[in-house]
This record gives sequence, structure tokens and C-alpha cells, in this order.
Amino acid sequence: MTQKIAILPGDGIGPEIVAEAVKLIDFLKAEGSLDVITEEAPVGGAGYDAAGDPLPEATLKLARESDAILLGAVGGPQYESLPRDKRPEKGLLGLRSELTLFSNLRPAILYPQLADASSLKAEIVAGLDIMIVRELTGGIYFGAPRGIEDRNGERYGYNTAGYAESEIERIGRSAFDIAMKRGKSVCSVDKANVLEVSELWREVMERVAKDYPEVELSHMYVDNAAMQLVKWPKQFDVMVTSNMFGDILSDAAAMLTGSIGMLPSASLDANGKGMYEPIHGSAPDIAGKGVANPLATILSVAMMLRYSLNNSAVAERIENAVGKVLDKGLRTPDIMSEGCEEVGTVAMGDAVLEALKA
Ligand code: IPM
Ligand code: MG
Repeated sequence: MTQKIAILPGDGIGPEIVAEAVKLIDFLKAEGSLDVITEEAPVGGAGYDAAGDPLPEATLKLARESDAILLGAVGGPQYESLPRDKRPEKGLLGLRSELTLFSNLRPAILYPQLADASSLKAEIVAGLDIMIVRELTGGIYFGAPRGIEDRNGERYGYNTAGYAESEIERIGRSAFDIAMKRGKSVCSVDKANVLEVSELWREVMERVAKDYPEVELSHMYVDNAAMQLVKWPKQFDVMVTSNMFGDILSDAAAMLTGSIGMLPSASLDANGKGMYEPIHGSAPDIAGKGVANPLATILSVAMMLRYSLNNSAVAERIENAVGKVLDKGLRTPDIMSEGCEEVGTVAMGDAVLEALKA
């Protein structure tokens, strides 16, 4: 049955990098190895420009009726002074919450060809392969009450960090299921020495662990986890954590690999529907210059094939094609190193396409 992919390029470098991924999708369609239709819609700042809303009604409708969503990035300086509910980030958060995409998979993999790009010593990061499983639809990002109001003659800003047992349990199961297909080890990151919400988190993780006797569960406070990530990251296999801790730790983990421009992500609901996007943002400083790295978006298509479209054979072909292009020494500026050939966004996309055809 033909599946539908919503293409949401978004802002900044989003349209440039998504165009390279769409080139691959179109080729795979033409070749007959992918049976999909694609439809594009604006989101984020582009949604605001087109319809006065970072998540226009038509975009949400398209996302709802699609089997998978490919998103570029949202945000830009021109939108920063808009009221909070009109800002680009609201489009992204709206998609996550409206579609219940609670399980955010953020792999941090070091490509051997890029070992020099890391700011850490090669022996510390060589062979790095961590999967961060971030809860994405709850916690302090969405908790109520929230706001800024007058109290005692001054303004007071506040948010609520809370999780229901069922929310902790489902993200826990996501993490354990993934660990079963990897190194069978889960580190749950919390702040249980200070926060009640973390105390409950830890208790529920222990309970979930009982259903996965083969997986080893450990717990770590988030401050220590940040330290351990830069000290000896290879101790981790799967890390599972709350929305905000995961936001922070996944940026740190991504940078261990030397380029955030290489890393894809998946945000999944309970039925395998997912939104796929590069981990990096909209990079307004380089938007329109044709130098952005399209590989994270291309690798996001591979993740989409694996997790939502049930086609791991083609996913592997895409990943191998990216590997071949790196072997050939082609590099966008963000991953450039001595002796390699610097190329732009389109040339990099073309090279992956050629490698895929070969
Ligand atoms: C991310 C981003 C988003 C987040 C922003 C853009 C709302 O930083 O996906 O990590 O905080 O979740
Ligand atoms: Mg972030």
C-alpha cells in the first residue's frame, strides 16, 4: 500500500537540506524500491509567514494523515520578538504534542571517517554509539500551571515539571525495547536527590525493568551524567530521560561526535508513526549559502524507513551510501578536515545519490 510522507522543510537551512533528502526519496520511488507519495507544507516561521500560525491547520491535517513526517528545522531571528504562541518553536512543540510523538530517539554515533572532528581525544570517542531516548510530550515543557504573573509587586515566572506514571512507563518501555536490540543496557537519568518527579521516575523505571530481565538498568543524576558524557561516553548504551534533561544531554552527546550536522532523530508515537528530523537547528547564519550539511536529514530518511516504513534494507543502503561518500573524502565545511575535499549542500546530496545508484 502506498504510504504518505509529509515534507515540512521549515526555516533557515531547512529547505536546502530537505531538498537533498527529497532527491533521494524521488530516486527510490522511481527505482521502485519505495512506494510513497510526498506532500509539502509550511511549519515554524514559514507557517507563520504563510498562514499567520507556526502550525497551520492544513499542515497539522497533513501530518495527521501521513505515515511519516520529514522535518527540516524551525526558527530564525526574525521571529524571536513574536508572542510565544506565534513563534516557530511552537510549531514543532505542537506537532510533537498533537501527534503524541512521545519517544524521541537521538543517536550519537561517531563515524570512523570523522574521528578528527571531535573536540575530545580519539580514544575517548572512537566507536561511540549511544542512543538517547528522550521523553518528548511531557515534563516541564508542557506542564501546567505555567506563566509570568505579578506577585508581591514584581513579576514571577514559573513552570511545572510533572510526569504521570503512565508517561514514565511508556518511555521506559521504548528505551528497554531499543536496548534489547542493542547492548542491553539502560541508564536512566534523573535528579531524584532533589525532585519528587524524579523519585517517581526512578520507581517506575525499576518496575518496567522487571519485564526486561536481560537488560541491565542503572540510574544516574543528570549533573553526573553530563560529566560522564564528556569523561567516558562509551560507558553508555541507551540513556533514557525526561524532556528537558534529554534536550540538554542530547546536544552534549551530539557534539561528542564532532558534528551535529551528521545526526538524525526520530520522534515516535505508540504505533510507529514518526517525525524525522536532523538534530541540528535552522542555522540562520548559513541559510541560503549552500554550505549546510544535508547528511543528518538524509540519515533521518534512513531512520524513517527503518522505524515507520518498515524497510530496513533500503535504510541500510542509504547509510552505506553516506559511508561511501565520507570514505571518498567529501566534506561540507562543518566536518571539513585536512586532505579532504570541501563541497556544498547540493554536491553532497548528489554524491550520496550517485553512491546509492552504484
Ligand atoms: C530540540 C530543540 C527544541 C527543544 C526547540 C527548538 C523547541 O532544542 O529539538 O532539541 O527544545 O525540544
Ligand atoms: Mg535541543
